[in-house]
Amino acid sequence: MAMRTRVAIVGAGPAGLLLSHLLEAEGVESVVLETRTQEYVEARIRAGILEQSTVDLLVQNGLGDRLLAEGDPHRGIHLQWPQERHHLDFVDLIGRTVTVYGQTEVQKDLGQAREAAGQPILYGIGDTGVHDVESDHPYVTFTDADGKRRRLDADVVVGCDGSFGPSRGAVPPAARQTWERTYPYAWLGVLAAVAPSTDELIYARHPDGFALHSMRSADVSRFYLQVPAGTDIAAWPDDRIWEALSTRLNLDGWELATGAITEKSVLPMRSFVQQPMRHGRLFLAGDAAHIVPPTGAKGLNLAVADVALLAPALAGLLVRGDHRAADAYSDTALRRVWRCTHFSWWMTTMLHTGDDPFDAQLQLSQLRWVAGSEAAARGLAENYAGMPIGL
Ligand code: FAD
Ligand code: DHB
Repeated sequence: MAMRTRVAIVGAGPAGLLLSHLLEAEGVESVVLETRTQEYVEARIRAGILEQSTVDLLVQNGLGDRLLAEGDPHRGIHLQWPQERHHLDFVDLIGRTVTVYGQTEVQKDLGQAREAAGQPILYGIGDTGVHDVESDHPYVTFTDADGKRRRLDADVVVGCDGSFGPSRGAVPPAARQTWERTYPYAWLGVLAAVAPSTDELIYARHPDGFALHSMRSADVSRFYLQVPAGTDIAAWPDDRIWEALSTRLNLDGWELATGAITEKSVLPMRSFVQQPMRHGRLFLAGDAAHIVPPTGAKGLNLAVADVALLAPALAGLLVRGDHRAADAYSDTALRRVWRCTHFSWWMTTMLHTGDDPFDAQLQLSQLRWVAGSEAAARGLAENYAGMPIGL
């Protein structure tokens, strides 16, 4: 059975759902295809920090009710190494904040808004294929939730299908260039039913490895521990997790409150960029085009920034016949992508420990510099809190 729409969006993560929302506001119809169920995508625990420009965009587009009521604006972060904890105040440094609001909540808000608008989202599909993107008649084939083979014809296809989806591979190898960096460590992510022991996030470098104290609400904390790549979660019973967190986050006069661990998993880390982010009538957005290690909290924000550029560009192309912004999309988006790729790599390599004693000294020197120099602190703050979209 064939269907037709203007924009076929592959993937109902934050990039795909926000794109369909922004396109609707521009008067452009879309259909979203997703392999997982709605329950699954809304329960996936991932990022937790929204840049100010992400918050502004969501609010301006009618997605801010719960975000403004429940999101927790933060002025900055703490940077720590043994015996020292320093607060960087982004408001003082650059006049911008970040907001703690889980990706699960962003996903639910987007899902609800799409439902209210009667947006067609086909969950539970399989065998997605992206075809004929070099022609004026691209289409997507898939098996629907009832097992029927289907075809979705469109004016353009947007790959918002994350790091494992098929869209990026639909760009012929001769037309694409990729860069990749793998890291010898991963993150053990932990969700715990305990009030945060800190007002703002703590990024801690420790000889045993990096630790991050984040949060989700007044009574839910989120933690991450550096572990070797390929770590089996079975090697980390809850007691070992609390012990490692207490050691790595330790500071005289400060105590870590512990509680029931409700979720834990190991997250691999890598940097990846594929360019261009457009090939013919196929556009890529979010993790489909680029992956950053999570240390700078950039992945979700970068996905939002991509679609904030792409929606008006597609409206220009499809509604007004003006192709200039669509033609510029890849170059414009990639400027931010590479800035965030560098920042995420820098935060990662400054805070994660390895075997090399020379590297360790350089890391400590960088941390002291950022904590001690207003100019250096401003650089971190500007990147962490995020540039306005379009820059
Ligand atoms: P995704 O959210 O990955 O959405 C892509 C969607 O496409 C998914 O729903 C997927 O099911 C769907 N899809 C895949 N294949 C197909 C197909 N063949 N057909 C149809 N649909 C398909 N960032 C941070 O900043 N901090 C963090 O702590 C953090 N933790 C993370 C933990 C994990 C396990 C992962 C995977 C990512 C994490 N990230 C984190 C990154 C951040 O969550 C992503 O950058 C963000 O989700 C990107 O949004 P997206 O919409 O581009 O991709
Ligand atoms: C969270 C994740 C990050 O990658 C980060 O840098 C800060 C916070 C979080 O999930 O809360």
